[in-house]
Amino acid sequence: MVTIKLVIVICLAVVAGFIFNIGRSSAQTNQVETAGQKFKSIKVLNDMPADQMGKVMNMISASLGVNCSFCHASNDADYEKEGFEHKDTARKMIKMVFDLNKANFNGRPEINCNSCHNGKSHPQPSFPLAPMPQPEPRPAQPAVKPTADQIITKYLTALGGAEKLAKAKSRAITATRVEPDGKTTEAETIWLSDKAYRSDTMYGKSVVTEIFDGTDGKKFGDAAPIELKPDEAEQIKREGQLFFPANIKTIYPKLEFRALEKIDGREVYTVFATTANNLNERLSFDVATGLLVRRTVSSRTLFGNFVYQVDYADYKDFGGIKMPATTHYAMPHIRWTRKLGEVKMNVPVDASKFTSAK
Ligand code: HEC
Ligand code: HEC
Repeated sequence: MVTIKLVIVICLAVVAGFIFNIGRSSAQTNQVETAGQKFKSIKVLNDMPADQMGKVMNMISASLGVNCSFCHASNDADYEKEGFEHKDTARKMIKMVFDLNKANFNGRPEINCNSCHNGKSHPQPSFPLAPMPQPEPRPAQPAVKPTADQIITKYLTALGGAEKLAKAKSRAITATRVEPDGKTTEAETIWLSDKAYRSDTMYGKSVVTEIFDGTDGKKFGDAAPIELKPDEAEQIKREGQLFFPANIKTIYPKLEFRALEKIDGREVYTVFATTANNLNERLSFDVATGLLVRRTVSSRTLFGNFVYQVDYADYKDFGGIKMPATTHYAMPHIRWTRKLGEVKMNVPVDASKFTSAK
C-alpha cells in the first residue's frame, strides 16, 4: 500500500510541475483562463482550462464517431446555442465520467467517452461471443540498449548521409493533400530554404498557408493571419524543421532511447525527444531500415492525453536524399495524408516567401 501511494504522489507532483511550467511560459499570470470564463454557455466544463476546449470536443466527436453537428447547431459555428437533445445528454455523460473517475480512480482520467462508446454514438450492451484478439505483446528488450546517437546516425545514413543532406538546401515541391475519404484532394506547393518552410494548400480558390520562418510557426487564410494556439504553432515549426533532418540534434537537444516496440508488425526503436523549449515528443525508427516511421506528441486534457501522430511512409530518393513520399497525419477526429509529387532540388526560392503569405 505504501509504495502505491508513493507512486501516485510522485505522479501528481510531475503533473503539477508540467501545468505550472506551461502557465508560466505562456503568460506571466498564474491564473489560467477557464472554459467557464471564455465560452458563452458552459454548465459542466467550467473549470477546464479554456485552451483544452477544441481538443476535448475533437476527442468527444471521435469517441462517438460523429461530427460537431450531432450536438451543435452546425459543424463550424454557433456552438453556444442550446436546445439540442444530444448536447444535453452529453452534459450528463461528462458529469458521469467526472464522477466515475473521482470515485474510483483518484480523479485520474481513466474512463473517458471512448471507454463505452468505442467510436459509436449509441453503445449497446454486448459481450464477446468469441475471444477478442489480444494486443501484440511488447517485444523482448535488447540486452544492450542502443544509444540515441547510434539510432540517429543510422537514420541520417539511411537518408543519404550527412554530406548529401547538408547539400539539400532550397527545394520547390508539389504535393497533394488527401482527405480521409481517399477521394477529396487539394493541391499543395511546398518551399524550403535554409531552415525555413512554407506550404500553400488550395481549397478551391482559397489558400491556406503555413510558414516556419526559421523561428516561429504561422498560419494564414488567403494571406490573412490565423490565430494559433502555442502547440499548433509549434507543430508547424516542427513540420518545417524536420524537412532538414541533418539538424535533428539541434531540434531535439535531448534524445533518449526508450524501448523496442512494434508498429504494424515491424520492430522500431522509440526515442524520447525533447526540444530546446522542453516539449516532449516520441520518435520511432524502423530497426531494419533505420528510417523514422512515426512521431507522436501528446498533451494532457481533462479527458486524458490528446495525441497528434505523424506517420512517415514510402521513403523515396529525391535528388540523392530520401524523403517520405507519403505522410499520414492523425489526431482525434482529424486525419489527412500528404503525398509528395515533384521535388526540385536547390532551385532559387525567394526569401520573401517566408516573411509574408502574399
Ligand atoms: C456529443 C456531443 C458533442 C459533440 C459531438 C461536440 N460537442 Fe461541443 N459541446 C458539447 C457540450 C455538452 C458543450 C457544453 C459543455 C458545458 O456545458 O460545459 C459543448 C460546448 C462547445 C463549445 C463552447 C461553446 C460556448 O461558447 O459555450 C465549443 C466551441 C464546442 N463545443 C465546439 C465543438 C466542436 C468544434 C465540435 C466538433 C469537433 C464539437 N463541439 C462536438 C457537446 C458536443
Ligand atoms: C459508462 C459508459 C459510458 C460512458 C463513459 C459514456 N457514455 Fe454516452 N452513452 C452510454 C450508453 C450506454 C448510452 C445509450 C443510453 C441509452 O440507450 O439510453 C449513451 C448515450 C450517449 C448519447 C446519446 C446518443 C444517442 O444516439 O441518443 C450521447 C450524446 C453520449 N452518450 C455522449 C457521451 C459523451 C460525450 C461521453 C464522454 C464525456 C460519454 N457519452 C461517455 C454509455 C456511456
